[in-house]
Parts: sequence; structure tokens; C-alpha cells
Amino acid sequence: MSVVITGATGFLGSRVLRHLLAEETRETVTVLGRGSPDTLRERVEAAVAWLDGPPVEPDAWQRVRCVGADLTRPTLGLTPGELAEAAAGAAQVWHCAARLHLAGDQSELFSTNVRGTRAVLDLAEQAPDAHLVYVSTAFVAGRRDAGHIMEDDLSDADGFHTRYEETKYTTERMIRAWTAAKGRRATIVRPSLLVSDRPAPAGLPAQPLDYVARLVDDTLRPRADQDPGLPMRGGVLPMRLQGDPHGTMNLLQADYAAEALLRVAAAGRARTGAGAGAGVRTVHVTHPREVAFPTAREALRELYPGLRLTVVPTVRNPSRHEALVIEHAGHLLDFGVQRRTYDRTHLREDVGDLPEPPDVDAAYLSRAFDRSGARQRAAV
Ligand SMILES: NC(=O)c1ccc[n+]([C@@H]2O[C@H](COP(=O)([O-])OP(=O)(O)OC[C@H]3O[C@@H](n4cnc5c(N)ncnc54)[C@H](OP(=O)(O)O)[C@@H]3O)[C@@H](O)[C@H]2O)c1
Repeated sequence: MSVVITGATGFLGSRVLRHLLAEETRETVTVLGRGSPDTLRERVEAAVAWLDGPPVEPDAWQRVRCVGADLTRPTLGLTPGELAEAAAGAAQVWHCAARLHLAGDQSELFSTNVRGTRAVLDLAEQAPDAHLVYVSTAFVAGRRDAGHIMEDDLSDADGFHTRYEETKYTTERMIRAWTAAKGRRATIVRPSLLVSDRPAPAGLPAQPLDYVARLVDDTLRPRADQDPGLPMRGGVLPMRLQGDPHGTMNLLQADYAAEALLRVAAAGRARTGAGAGAGVRTVHVTHPREVAFPTAREALRELYPGLRLTVVPTVRNPSRHEALVIEHAGHLLDFGVQRRTYDRTHLREDVGDLPEPPDVDAAYLSRAFDRSGARQRAAV
């Protein structure tokens, strides 16, 4: 038996791979990813070695086979023989790879996330006993910003904040149709925004929050030399952000998410097999408690004591710095209007005795936003 995984060089996929390597089943793991097999192996080894997680025996890497594959190419860029070889004997296919650029070009997002998944389904068809795990996102709920989202909900009626969300919605629909047409079983997991309080050194998979931290580093920090008003020079900077002052966001620790994913996948795999019937089980991999804006404000204030953040429904007459934030992060501010919660019935059923995660509090978030630790680690 073997396991196939895409996206193992990524922030979440590398954590999943680490768990797969630590498992006692000792199955062969076929890693599909960009680049030559050798460079792909170097990249996944570096990404996994740095992580916290279950211990991995040094000889576990002998069970890993790296295969160069690109989601944007027909049949992943593999010949029919290579595709069949990659799928041979697979009991599970993990599809973690995706393009996450929220403001990304529509055709690139579609080609990677939708057409790429179609190619992964073609591969899964060559492994008739395999259980498919597709990593979607809790943000597939799109602009349904309030209310309690059930795990079986899937609708485009409210529209989407980003093209990325839309591609994930389209892909979930495609997988539902595929399981029905082919008599297959799949688990769709929907993590919320994943965070880590141990930001990765440069060159290793970064968390989405890093994007915000980089905006500060790349946009505001270079200006700090000329502008003593900026908080990194000890100044006080009032900053209004557009959103709902009572808005919330679901953030989940990435290491916890990976462990939950493995358990959810194992439960799905146990349900797959003779007489199991076709269908999809969708599971919210979310935190039981949402994070409110004051927590994020406190976290940023620990890093930049002079920053005076407020959230207002509309930013009228933006200051120079507010205009900068709107210019560079306007698409992120769109998420500041959410107050929704996520049902976790399937998650609790599937993770067994895994305890609930600790709160993502201001201290945790402040470490997650703090790239100085990551910069120092990169410099060592
Ligand atoms: N991170 C989150 O907060 C979060 C939350 C909810 C859902 N998710 C979902 O979780 C999954 C993993 O996300 P992540 O955080 O690990 O993202 P990530 O760090 O950006 O990693 C993306 C992965 O996809 C691979 N990939 C991208 N384009 C590809 C292509 N054309 N061909 C082959 N591989 C390609 C990347 O390979 P390269 O290294 O070669 O670029 C990388 O391994 C995604 O499906 C995402 O939608 C993530």
C-alpha cells in the first residue's frame, strides 16, 4: 500500500507529510511536486526537518519517492505510464497543493486549483481503492459573513470575497460530482486560517499571516528611516482599518490542524472499501472559538507599541499611511466584516480523543506576526 501527496513543500502539506512519515504503517509515500525529483526531495526534506511534530526515524525517507509533477500541465506533466506508476497501490491520495494568492490572476488560480484537481482525480481513478482527501478551505463559505456554517453547506448564492475562494468552491463541486459519477469516496477538509507562533526562516514554507508581516516589513519599515512618526521608530501612529468592529476570524494552529487532518483522513479511509458506497464527507478543521479584533490589535501592539489600530465601517479621508494599507492590503480588509461560526460535528466525530486546541491569544498571535525571530533564524 502507498500514499500519494501533492503540496508537500507547502506550509500545511509539509506538516501532513511529517505525520505520514511518523506513522507506524510504514507505507510508501509518493510526493508529487514541482521541479526535478532531486530538488523536490531536497525541498521537502528541508521543509519537514524544521517542523515540530511526531518524531521521524531517519530511515523513513527511504519510503519517500519524489515525482516531478505540475498541476498546471495536462496529466500533471506525466506520461500515462508515470501516472499509473504514481497511483499504483495507493490507498490514500492527499491533494494539498493549491495556489493561495487571494488577489491572484483568475486564469492561474483556475488552472492550478480547478484544472489541477481534475488531473489529480484522473490519477486517483488509476487507484480504484484509494480514498481521496482534498484540502479545501473554510473560506469556501465566501461572502456568507454571518451565521453558523454547516459542514455540508456549499453554495455560491452569496458570492465570494476572492477568486481563490471561488476556485475552492468550484473544486468542491467537481469532487462531489466525481464521487457520484465514479462511485468513489472522498473527504473534503476545510481548515480555517492556519497560524504558527514559530514563523519559518526564509526559504521554508511561510504561513499566510507572513504576508501581512511582510507588508509591514517591506512597505512601512523602509519608510521608518525618513518618518519618525512610524511605530517602529517609537512614534505613535493612529490607523483606521475598514471592517466590522465586532468582526471575528477563525484561526487554527497549523500543527494542531495537521494532527486533526491525519485523524480525519484515517476515519475516512476506514469508511472506504467494499460496500461503503460513494460520497463525500466534509469536515471543518476549525478552532472552537473565533478570534475577535481586540486580540489582533493587542498582538500588533506588543510588536509596535505606538500603533493605535481601530476598525471602522468606512475609512473617510484616509491618512497617508491608511492609504498605503488600503493600496497594499485592501483585498484583506474585505475579511474584516465576518462574524460567522463553523459547525464541527464531523470534526469531533472523526478526531476521537484529540483534545480541543488552546486559544489563539494575543501572545500567540504576536509571536506569529513577529518576523524578527524568523529573520534571525535565517541569518544563523
Ligand atoms: N495555509 C492556510 O491558512 C490554509 C487555510 C485553509 C486552507 N488551506 C489549503 O491548504 C492547502 C495547503 O496550503 P498551504 O498553506 O500549504 O499552501 P502553500 O504553503 O502556499 O503551499 C502550496 C503548495 O502547493 C504547491 N503548488 C502550487 N502550485 C503548484 C503547481 N502548479 N503544481 C504543483 N504543486 C503546486 C506548492 O508547491 P511549490 O512549493 O512548488 O510552490 C506548495 O507545495 C491548500 O489547498 C490551501 O487552499 C490553507
